[in-house]
Amino acid sequence: MHFPPNFVWGVATSAFQIEGAAAEDGKGLSIWDTFCRQPGVIADGSNGDIACDHYHRWEADLDMIAGLGVDAYRFSVSWPRVRPTGSGAWNEAGLAFYERLVDGLLARGIKPYLTLNHWDLPEALQAGGGWANRDTVARFVEYALGIHARLGDRVVSIATHNEPWVMAHLGHEAGVFAPGIKNRRTAMQVSHHLLLSHGLALQALRAAGCKARLGIVLNLSPMHAATDSAADRAKMTLEDGQLLRWYLDPLFKASYPQDVLEVLGADAPAVEAGDMAHIATAMDFMGVNYYSRSVVSAGEPWDVMSSGREITDMGWEVYPEGLTELLVRLHRDYPVPPLFVTENGGAFKDELVDGRVHDEGRTRYIEQHIEAVAEAMRQGVNMGGYMVWSLMDNFEWASGYEKRFGIVHVDYTTQQRTLKDSARWYQGFLQQQKQGG
Ligand code: NOJ
Repeated sequence: MHFPPNFVWGVATSAFQIEGAAAEDGKGLSIWDTFCRQPGVIADGSNGDIACDHYHRWEADLDMIAGLGVDAYRFSVSWPRVRPTGSGAWNEAGLAFYERLVDGLLARGIKPYLTLNHWDLPEALQAGGGWANRDTVARFVEYALGIHARLGDRVVSIATHNEPWVMAHLGHEAGVFAPGIKNRRTAMQVSHHLLLSHGLALQALRAAGCKARLGIVLNLSPMHAATDSAADRAKMTLEDGQLLRWYLDPLFKASYPQDVLEVLGADAPAVEAGDMAHIATAMDFMGVNYYSRSVVSAGEPWDVMSSGREITDMGWEVYPEGLTELLVRLHRDYPVPPLFVTENGGAFKDELVDGRVHDEGRTRYIEQHIEAVAEAMRQGVNMGGYMVWSLMDNFEWASGYEKRFGIVHVDYTTQQRTLKDSARWYQGFLQQQKQGG
């Protein structure tokens, strides 16, 4: 495999999943801090109070990232760390932390890829309705501008939101993620406000002279019907509408998909004049998080075991060709800017023995998905980069610390980091790329 020399290779994390220091140096509470306190919502009863203690160990972590030989590090800023209530005073200690982080990356020759919203909304904004309240859109734009004022001259890229579908639907319809609301109408309004705030933030950042490349990160997977039956195919089309077209159509065509609007009926979001045009503000890149395909059935849920494929510890089918299919479809159906795989990786049952983790499954997973990206490029897709999820094991949301996605192992009692075999493989692969493939 040989990629162009300007192709960006990276590793990714997010603030809540790795930082810890949940109540230190003036940080405010996020909706995930409070959600974790509810009994029964996190598989192992854990929370993000300590996580990987990255807030204190960031310097050693940056050395580790540099040691991998990556070009870029994708991380997120904790909104309540820099502006504790989301609307009042800014927290200098929080801003200074991200400034140290960004400068530390640059000093090591690593490009900072910043995400503004990786799910940890300030709890104080949730008390006022959170993303369901249109005011939060304005607060987000202020937040984006505050980060730009401090870091905008040094970060290479700013993504507004990470996986709006997850925040809207898992957070407000299924209720299995923070803030734990179960209401479809609310979820749809949240999705609209997330999209609107994305477009308005892009406009505000550009007006402020921001030179970073601006975009959004979506969780996308190709939809396949379990059988060829009309019922399965109809369900597949609808789910494709809800997961993919609901986000892609407004971003690139300034409209919501008609078939989904019809199904939503009175649950469709309230949209004000001008909103759709704002949402469709041109982007410099789009991030795609890819883990697996979705197989849709109108009857009993499709049994993943029936695929005969390898299944990761999350119960997700390993389906690398779905990544090629997805990227080619995006390129064919939408006027997309350069695409980045901003997350890709797998949770596997790792064992640390004598300082080694022989995670062949993860190594194979990453290699096959990189090949799938290469294939998409051969088919004409304009790809900017690829980032592994994740740099290190971390707080996997409702699954707590039981699911390990890292290419670096974290021992949560000692906070010791150990490169897994997959990290060593990635290191070698990146070295080869640097030497011309
Ligand atoms: C997507 C999310 O952005 C990330 O936070 C999460 O850990 C991974 N998927 C794995 O589930």
